[in-house]
Amino acid sequence: MTNREIRDAYLNFFKTKLHQIVPSAPVVVKNDPTLMFTNAGMNQFKDFFLGEALPKYTRVADTQRCLRVSGKHNDLEEVGIDTYHHTLFEMLGNWSFGDYFKKEAIEWAWELLTAVYGLDQDRLYVTIFEGDTDEGLEKDVEAFEFWKQWIAEDRILLGNKKDNFWEMGETGPCGPCSEIHYDMRADEDRKLVAGQELVNADHPQVIEVWNLVFMQFNRLKNGTLESLPAKHVDTGMGFERLVRAIQGKSSNYDTDVFQPLISFISEKSGIKYGVNEKTDIAMRVLSDHIRAVSFAIADGQLPSNNKAGYVIRRILRRAVRYAYTFLNFKTPFINELVPLLAKEFEGVFDELISQQDFVQKVVLEEEVSFLRTLVAGVQRFEAYAEKNTAVDGDFAFELFDTFGFPIDLTELLAREKGLEVDMTGFQQALQVQKERSRAATAIDTGDWVFVNDEEQAEFVGYDVLTVKTEILKYRKVTAKGKEQVQFVLSVTPFYPEGGGQVGDTGVLISEETGEKIHITDTKKENGLIVHFSNQLPSQLIGIFQAKVDLQKRIDTENNHSATHLLHAALKEVLGNHVNQKGSLVNADILRFDISHFSKVTEEELKQVEDIVNAKIRENIALKENRNVPFQEALDSGVTALFGEKYGDYVRVITFGDQFSKELCGGTHVKATGQIGFFKIISESAVAAGVRRIEAITGTKAAAVIREHFDLVHKLGELLHNPKDFVVTLAKVIDENSALKKEIEKSIIEKSLALKTDLEQKIEEINGVRFLATVVDLPNAEALKTLAYALKGAIDNLFLVLGANFDGKPSIAVVVSEHLSKERGLNAGSIVRELAKEIDGGGGGQPFFATAGGKNASGLGNAIAKAKTYLD
Ligand code: SER
Repeated sequence: MTNREIRDAYLNFFKTKLHQIVPSAPVVVKNDPTLMFTNAGMNQFKDFFLGEALPKYTRVADTQRCLRVSGKHNDLEEVGIDTYHHTLFEMLGNWSFGDYFKKEAIEWAWELLTAVYGLDQDRLYVTIFEGDTDEGLEKDVEAFEFWKQWIAEDRILLGNKKDNFWEMGETGPCGPCSEIHYDMRADEDRKLVAGQELVNADHPQVIEVWNLVFMQFNRLKNGTLESLPAKHVDTGMGFERLVRAIQGKSSNYDTDVFQPLISFISEKSGIKYGVNEKTDIAMRVLSDHIRAVSFAIADGQLPSNNKAGYVIRRILRRAVRYAYTFLNFKTPFINELVPLLAKEFEGVFDELISQQDFVQKVVLEEEVSFLRTLVAGVQRFEAYAEKNTAVDGDFAFELFDTFGFPIDLTELLAREKGLEVDMTGFQQALQVQKERSRAATAIDTGDWVFVNDEEQAEFVGYDVLTVKTEILKYRKVTAKGKEQVQFVLSVTPFYPEGGGQVGDTGVLISEETGEKIHITDTKKENGLIVHFSNQLPSQLIGIFQAKVDLQKRIDTENNHSATHLLHAALKEVLGNHVNQKGSLVNADILRFDISHFSKVTEEELKQVEDIVNAKIRENIALKENRNVPFQEALDSGVTALFGEKYGDYVRVITFGDQFSKELCGGTHVKATGQIGFFKIISESAVAAGVRRIEAITGTKAAAVIREHFDLVHKLGELLHNPKDFVVTLAKVIDENSALKKEIEKSIIEKSLALKTDLEQKIEEINGVRFLATVVDLPNAEALKTLAYALKGAIDNLFLVLGANFDGKPSIAVVVSEHLSKERGLNAGSIVRELAKEIDGGGGGQPFFATAGGKNASGLGNAIAKAKTYLD
């Protein structure tokens, strides 16, 4: 079977078991502070397990793209070195939300693997949870009993908490699990050592393919387990491993999932795969990493210097580094894999093929800039290696931190020069940095404390901005040393941050006590709407009035609706390739990022502005459809955003059927006229292929325009209200620079005239030609010119000049070169000493130095003191 057939067979099998097939969620996670990337198929269903939302279907199946490169599940360092871990992998999964449980999950897994895929029963092993006394958990006898119906008892192995109790993260849904392992060794090897002994023993040929999790608990922050309201099934099968088992290969990279990429790399590098371990690892790294990087970018995560963006940047750099060092790619190459990958995933994850050019461009730019750093880093290393006999930990860390050098690269370079790397020192430096960044971002979230037992009702803030509500639960959070409180309300008008729009602020007023609590922000966390405050009400039980800050909401809505108009206008002016790549909407500004490969010209910006303002003047009424089936919405022409996870029903916001139609959860004006006026204030680049437009609307735009008018008016007054402002100002500027030049000329002339005067005054003391005097010059430049002119004309000179520039005293000291050597006179130290007389300081070179001060009346003393250097 080809990998496509294998994937289809999985989905079809579960369709026959009445599962709804759903799309993969994006790999980039939003609305879940505990996760950066999707690390398991179950992430998108977390709310269903926790009972915080109700599923539409109780049985679903899918293939989910997952990334395990950060947090609790992190395989990055293994990737490429071994043959069965990946950064991005597909997880085939089937789920029961309070529907079937262990019996069916086990039975169907067995049926699929043996009857549909025809895997060899003699190579299969399963594990069950042995129990854990510390946690008070019993052995999973139930799973054992069900497995016994299909597989010999001696192939059912016991597993400990590490392997057989699955948890999503530090907190969240979890439960005992049963893993299915496949022994792919040759028959001779299997005869020598029984498969049982190699299960979960990191043997590259005896590997886990499927994990059946029986979700029963929620791990709380305090470490305890709480039973879930219902029992669920969450299974996850590593697609690439399954393909390998079915295709009978000894490495995931030998399957048709990776071979097209590997062949391409091999062809382009001129190096065969399967010949040399080092170059093989490099090819595996490239073919793996490009998948993670491409899908992360397609799902909206651009490489950057922090958080999720930094993880992606690091993965890409790891690939560039392997390509450069082992495959001899000294110019960008990895981006060329993008089209191949996009084609491979066509019809499976179309996000990539639809954005192929954009993704390739982003990868290319990253490659270009990292290759530059890499070359600079190697040079830095070489300079260091010339002077040192070992690589100390701090230097290895500098290469790692500043140049993005993984430690093994530094080791490699060091080995080539016969140097040792101080690994302990490196690890220590790394640890210090880790702790610093952990301390900077540490957020300590307490467990929810329940006040009321009701279900959270829907958001009502599309229709009303004040509502009576109750506190359902609260928790304390410490972020960067500051204590905060978070609430969940029974019903809320507060819009939770989303779709670029910031969260609402406002107040909660207790009807019992009259106490007022400020809501400083509102965010979504999975399905929950969480309100932030600095204060807990003294009485938690009872009715509260929740009131949204009205003006802020109105200003924000103006900007949000204007963003939709802007998006439509940009597509009209620039073309349909324009995709939204980021958006921020608050009360002050709207910021909109788009994929577009060149600067948006002034002319284009004007056209865009004109279209948006025309649409504002048309006063188009908002059309809001809250519950449109997703497909119907797509058919009607709305554009779904890449990287967003949409439900079965979506909200469609329309401003003019033929103009702007978007899937959007945000809040909007009732008619476009409310926006008042739209003004673009900047256009810039944010990343390769991404342009950023910032604009203002409504009262803010009015205020900014007034400011500009006032400014122009003031400038006009200064210029005596000319007819043509620009011509007059240009003339003033020209005149000004001509005058400046003339003044400079006359100053130089004056300095040179002084020179002749001063030459007469020089006296000779003990073979030194000496002069200390105050001169009348207007600025430092003139003083310097004079000093240099004298220095050039007279040998053995020790000269001290004082000047007063509009009350600011200044001193220049000149000492002829050989005088400073022979007599130990140093202009720098002399000027510092003399400057004390004028309450100032300065410095320079041994032959010329200057100082400035605050006390002009001290100039005389300074000049008098100069002679003492010749005593
Ligand atoms: N959540 C489990 C895993 O990731 C099974 O899907 O292994």
